[in-house]
Amino acid sequence: MPASPLSALKTLSPSTLSHAGYLAVAKTRAKALHALSLVITVPRPQLFIGEQSCYELCDMMINEGATNILIVTDAVLNKLGVPEKVTTYLEQKNISYHLFDGITPDPTFSVVEEGLSRSVENNCDAILALGGGSVIDASKIIAISQATGRKPKKLMGILKATECMPLYCIPTTAGTGSEATLGAVISDDKTHQKSLSIDPRMVPLASAVDPSIMQGMPPRITADTGIDVLTHALEAWMSATANSETDYYAASATRAVMQYLPVAYQNGSDLKAREQMGIAAHYGGIAFNKAGLGYVHGIAHQLGAFYGIPHGRANAIVLPYILDANRDVSKERLAALARKTGVVNPDQPQADDDDAADYLIAQVKRLIEEVNIDRTVDGINPADFKKIAKGAAKEVRDTYTVPQYFTTAQIVAILNKIKAASDSLSAQ
Ligand SMILES: NC(=O)c1ccc[n+]([C@@H]2O[C@H](COP(=O)([O-])OP(=O)(O)OC[C@H]3O[C@@H](n4cnc5c(N)ncnc54)[C@H](O)[C@@H]3O)[C@@H](O)[C@H]2O)c1
Ligand SMILES: [Fe+2]
Repeated sequence: MPASPLSALKTLSPSTLSHAGYLAVAKTRAKALHALSLVITVPRPQLFIGEQSCYELCDMMINEGATNILIVTDAVLNKLGVPEKVTTYLEQKNISYHLFDGITPDPTFSVVEEGLSRSVENNCDAILALGGGSVIDASKIIAISQATGRKPKKLMGILKATECMPLYCIPTTAGTGSEATLGAVISDDKTHQKSLSIDPRMVPLASAVDPSIMQGMPPRITADTGIDVLTHALEAWMSATANSETDYYAASATRAVMQYLPVAYQNGSDLKAREQMGIAAHYGGIAFNKAGLGYVHGIAHQLGAFYGIPHGRANAIVLPYILDANRDVSKERLAALARKTGVVNPDQPQADDDDAADYLIAQVKRLIEEVNIDRTVDGINPADFKKIAKGAAKEVRDTYTVPQYFTTAQIVAILNKIKAASDSLSAQ
């Protein structure tokens, strides 16, 4: 009997391989991932949009039977009063809730365990994640851990959740799209290496894109998280398993980020820009649910683990180099994206694939400059590069279907370029 896509994924995980061996395994796993993406149905959360959307989402929770809700958030958001819009409404409706604000950026297992204890001790019957990707990812693991009675660490990997508590999301950043995705990323307490849990059961029941919740987001976080959206869209678009559905969402997200990120960055109170960025983040999540990500995320996760760089900023640092490296192999696809999104040179609207792809890449780099992404990496050290490259290569081989696979030496070369750029910026 032929191996199932899932067993093919599980069995092919050799730790040390030559590039030829790596390539062979990566290709087989890519086929298995593709087969898996065709057989797994990924549910979509009910989506509410607009300034009333928080209330609509609360009404849905109540109508679906939530009586005692764990609101998961972080201390920064709590201090800013962001949860008040929701807590005031729940109080008016006489719905009991417990507020847990202990989530930290890139949450670790111990942080998740703490939130889980709060939910279990208080017999909560629904989870509401109110925060960025860190809060949402931690909430997903709390929700599947409470439902299954299994420890968070045991729920890392593919298809580990057999059940999930009713889970609802109000994203406060327009970035990860985690409110739409089937994945959650949790970091090890000591090494800060990230583990991934992937299961369609953790897709939230509903999400509210409320621009008023995002309007206080500082420009720095707006920029970093906004480039995360663009990275999801571009990596999903360049994926070897992109299809017409993922293309629709990836292109819509790309178009919106190119148009609205500079506006949201300049004027956080522009609710139309905030809303468009929120929808773009959600669409980016839908796109990479099926098409996956790539080396930008693979390397960015390592930069986060080694040097504490926030997720979105790490993507913004790596993205230009991967676009350059993929430029030839993805030229037709990038040119098609440029035409579909209207990111074309106004002086040369009929440009051939070479020029159209180059123009798109140049515009992405220009946007990263325009929103003043800090591209310095404090403490970056060539002694770490081999480990970083191996970690990134493993994540890509095990999880994504990229347009081409790099050798470890190629990844180290990219890291050297990142270091050179960082050094030159620090010297200015
Ligand atoms: N599950 C997925 O599909 C997925 C995809 C990509 C990334 N991630 C994960 O998501 C995490 C990153 O999430 P993120 O980029 O949204 O950032 P985050 O949730 O870590 O938040 C970053 C900072 O922004 C602050 N913040 C958030 N919203 C704010 C607001 N409205 N106003 C003021 N401050 C605000 C937070 O308090 C925090 O200090 C990483 O751990 C990453 O690995 C998950
Ligand atoms: Fe991301």
